Amino acid sequence: MKHVIGIDLGTSAVKILLVNQDGNVVQEVSKPYPLIQEKVGYSEQNPQDWVDQTVAGLSDLLMNFNGDPESIEGISFSGQMHGLVLLDEHNDVLRHAILWNDTRTTEQCQQIYDVVGEERLLEITKNPALEGFTLPKILWVKENEPAVFEKARKFVLPKDYLRYKLTDELHMEYSDAAGTLLLDVGNKEWSEEICHLLEINSEICPPLVDSHTKVGNVTQEVIETTGLANTTAVFAGAADNACGAIGSGILEDGKTLCSIGTSGVVLSYEASGDKDFQGQVHYFNHGAPNAFYTMGVTLSAGYSLSWFKDNFAKEETFEELVADVDSVPVGSNGLLFTPYLVGERTPHADALIRGSFIGMDSSHERKDFVRSVLEGITFSLNESIEIFRNKGKKINTIVSTGGGTKNEDWLQIQADVFDATIIKLSSEQGPGMGAAMLAAYGSGWFDTLQACADTFLKVDKEFKPVKENVVKYQQLFDIYKDVYKQTKSLNDRLATYR
Ligand code: XUL
Repeated sequence: MKHVIGIDLGTSAVKILLVNQDGNVVQEVSKPYPLIQEKVGYSEQNPQDWVDQTVAGLSDLLMNFNGDPESIEGISFSGQMHGLVLLDEHNDVLRHAILWNDTRTTEQCQQIYDVVGEERLLEITKNPALEGFTLPKILWVKENEPAVFEKARKFVLPKDYLRYKLTDELHMEYSDAAGTLLLDVGNKEWSEEICHLLEINSEICPPLVDSHTKVGNVTQEVIETTGLANTTAVFAGAADNACGAIGSGILEDGKTLCSIGTSGVVLSYEASGDKDFQGQVHYFNHGAPNAFYTMGVTLSAGYSLSWFKDNFAKEETFEELVADVDSVPVGSNGLLFTPYLVGERTPHADALIRGSFIGMDSSHERKDFVRSVLEGITFSLNESIEIFRNKGKKINTIVSTGGGTKNEDWLQIQADVFDATIIKLSSEQGPGMGAAMLAAYGSGWFDTLQACADTFLKVDKEFKPVKENVVKYQQLFDIYKDVYKQTKSLNDRLATYR
C-alpha cells in the first residue's frame, strides 16, 4: 500500500497525517508551539519552533510506522496564511514571524490605500488592505525596524519556510501568495506596480509555483533525523483555507464550504479570477490548478461558544452545554446574539464592534442563550453567503466542517439559516487532508484533484432545510443585520472603556 503525508502548519500546533491510497488516515501526530504576544495586538512565532516540532512529529510518525518508508511517495503542506517570515542573504530568519492574527498594522493599511489607491489595489489583488495580510507587515518592519529590513533579501510565508528547511528549496505557491497583497491574483504574477509604488524591491518576492508542483526531496539531514526515505517527493502545498477546500471536495463551481473553528469561514469555488466582489469577500487563488475561491470570515465563530462555556458553564462539556437546544424554538424565544467578541471581518471589517444579546426576557433560561449563540454565529456566516448569492452565485449545497458539525441541531440550524442542504463528511480532517491530497495528486495517483476527492472523501449525512424554519430565520436575519447598524456608534463610544 502506498502512502502520502499531509502537514498542516496551524497557529497553535502542527498536525501531521499519514494517509493511504484509499484516503484513510493511518496515523496522526500533533505537536504544539507557543504564540509570542509581547504587546496588545502583537502575535508572533519563532519559525524554528515550526521546523523543530514538524521534524519531531515526522520522527514519531516514522517510528510508529510498520511499513516501508519508501511507500511514502509524497509530502505536502497546508499553512496558516499571511504570516511574514523575513530572510537574509543566507536565507536565515531575521526576526520572529508576524502572524495573520497580529493587528499592529492599521496605519500601514491606510498607507497602502493612500499610495496605491483602493480601487487599483482591488483591481490587482482582488482584496482590501487588512491588518492580517502580509504587505502591511512588510511595511511595518520597513518603518519600525529599518536595520532588519535592510538585511531582508526574501520574504516567505510560514509553510514555505518549513518546506525550505525540509528541502533546501525556496518557493511560494499561488494560493498563499494571494494573501500577501503583492500578487496580481487574476494574472498569477507578482505585482511590480505595487512593489514600485511602495518602494519595495520586488526581488524579495520568491519564485512562484503551483500547489501540486514537486519542489524537491527531503534533505539528507532530515532523512537521517526522521527516518524518511530519500525517494519521498515534496510538493508545494497550499494556504490552510485552500487546503480546507480541497480536503472537503470544494473543487467545482457551485461547491461551498462552511468551516467553523475558532473563526468561521464560508468559502466558495470560483472557476475564474476576473469577477468583481468589490473586496466584500476575500478572493484568492485555489490550490487546484488555475482555479480560485471566494471567502467570508466570521472572527468569533466557535470562539463565541467556547467563550460562553468558559464563562457560564465551565464545568460542563460542550455536549452537555448544547444538549437541550432542540427544546428551544427557532429564534430562541426572541433572544438574538451577535458574535462580535473580537470585532468582525465579513461583511463589516470593524475592529471596534462588539457583541450583544438583544431581547433578554425574564422568561429566558440558559438554553435560550445557548441556542441564540449558535443562531448568531450562523447568521454571521450567512452574511457571507448572502454576498455570494447577491453576486449571482447559486448555493444549494454546503459542506460543513469543524466544530459546527459536532451537534446535529446546529447542522439543522445551518440548513435552515443558509436555506441549503448541509453535508457532513464521514471523516473530516480538513486542511491536513487537503495537503495529503495535493501530495497524492502530485505523485500521479490521480489525474485530477476531483478524482482524488471522489476516492478520499465520503458523505456521512445530509441535513435538508425545513421550509417553515427557513421563513422564520429569514425574518430574524433582517433583525440580526440591523443590530450592527444600531449598535455601531454605541460600541465606538464604549471602546475607550475596554
Ligand atoms: C485567512 C486567515 C486565517 C488564517 C488562519 O484570511 O487569516 O484563516 O489562514 O490560519
